[in-house]
Amino acid sequence: MTIPVGEIPVPAVVLRIAAGRPVKAVWDNEAGGQTFQIGHGDGREFVKVAPPHPSVNLHREAVKLRWAAPYLTVPAVLGVGREGATEWLHTAGITGRSAADPHWIARPQHAVRAIAAGLRALHDRVPVDQCPFSWSVPDRLSAMPDAGRRLSAPPTIDRLVVCHGDACAPNTLISADGSWCGHVDLGELGVADRWADLAVATLSLRWNYPGDWEAEFFDAYGVTPDPVRIDYYRALWNAED
Ligand SMILES: Nc1ncnc2c1ncn2[C@@H]1O[C@H](COP(=O)(O)OP(=O)(O)OP(=O)(O)O)[C@@H](O)[C@H]1O
Ligand SMILES: [Mg+2]
Repeated sequence: MTIPVGEIPVPAVVLRIAAGRPVKAVWDNEAGGQTFQIGHGDGREFVKVAPPHPSVNLHREAVKLRWAAPYLTVPAVLGVGREGATEWLHTAGITGRSAADPHWIARPQHAVRAIAAGLRALHDRVPVDQCPFSWSVPDRLSAMPDAGRRLSAPPTIDRLVVCHGDACAPNTLISADGSWCGHVDLGELGVADRWADLAVATLSLRWNYPGDWEAEFFDAYGVTPDPVRIDYYRALWNAED
């Protein structure tokens, strides 16, 4: 989960989509995938490529991006497919810089408050009663039965919302004025307790910003920290790694 350094070979599918426009590698993920930016400015586009991996499904991400688009600022899907073993997802660029961009890493208070406000808006706006996707504890545990035996019993639901599913800092985009302006990486989007997102969003702050920003985050989101639910959902997240 980093901004790549050095020369990264550009996959054939990305070169084909770029059709001569400039291409830059902008992100490496933990599953061996990359994201490439094509072009610059408002007209820029992105192509995410993923080698086979049990937890990655870019077709599913495309379905979720299209479903969420009426409620949120998320990338418009321009295409999705598979070339050999490699899956790819082509999207239109949305405005703003990732909260993990060096510009925002140097301004952690702004970034943290924007991430929290963006997550609050996502939880408040997306209609939970119309969402066809689940990110519930039973569904997540069904993919890893051994972990279920190791973890404590799940806490009761505080508030059921449509969760982002990977609310780590880099997945919020922030505009030049410091306000959140979009979300990316919706492959796990689904209905769950809001603490499933809150626990991971706050855990990720320490991976991206020096210092302890959890209190600032909870203040900007507008909730009192719930240590039992935070611990449970962090343990569940870590068990999925
Ligand atoms: N359509 C888009 N508009 C603007 N930025 C984008 C877009 N798509 C991707 N990005 C940028 O590329 C980065 C990587 O994209 P994305 O988060 O979808 O990849 P990922 O490999 O699934 O990430 P992770 O490491 O969090 O799993 C994002 O953090 C964002 O900065
Ligand atoms: Mg991401």
